[in-house]
Amino acid sequence: MRKTLVLAMIGALAAGAMVGGATVALAQADIIKERQENRKQAGAAMRAIKGIIDAKGPTAGAVEQAAKLKTLEVAFGNMFPAGSDKGETKALPTIWSDSAGFKAAGAASIAAYDKLAVAAGSGDMAALTAAFGDAGKTCGACHDKYRAKAN
Ligand code: HEC
Repeated sequence: MRKTLVLAMIGALAAGAMVGGATVALAQADIIKERQENRKQAGAAMRAIKGIIDAKGPTAGAVEQAAKLKTLEVAFGNMFPAGSDKGETKALPTIWSDSAGFKAAGAASIAAYDKLAVAAGSGDMAALTAAFGDAGKTCGACHDKYRAKAN
């Protein structure tokens, strides 16, 4: 009788632990998808600005895209909870081992988007083109250090 009860309790505990573990794995898969979706939107915003540059303006259309990039980047920086280095992700372990550097890379991008917004508002195509190039370099700088290369 006692033994049965103890066994039942162990069973219940084990089941609880398994459910808990699965929930954690699921939450991490979700956050990985979320941050990849965030980056897809960043890519789309950059392409939209490129489209404005190719069409030779008007630069004002890029103001909203620059603001969007900034909002996305701020959110993106908070999408790397411990454990989310595992799974279908290109996030490199350096994100966690060098989190100060990773944050600095995000901050550099945010600063570049602010300049992009100012350039977009200026109506000056040359300024927008230059600021776009600079923003793009900050994407690449972070990818070089913190994102695995495509296979
Ligand atoms: C602070 C670092 C950082 C910055 C800045 C950054 N990225 Fe990334 N990016 C990453 C990481 C890390 C991943 C991999 C995410 C993953 O797989 O979990 C990624 C993935 C991506 C992806 C692939 C998303 C997918 O489909 O899986 C695209 C596209 C992308 N970034 C575009 C950009 C663009 C465009 C910019 C600049 C406007 C940018 N990124 C700036 C770190 C950064």
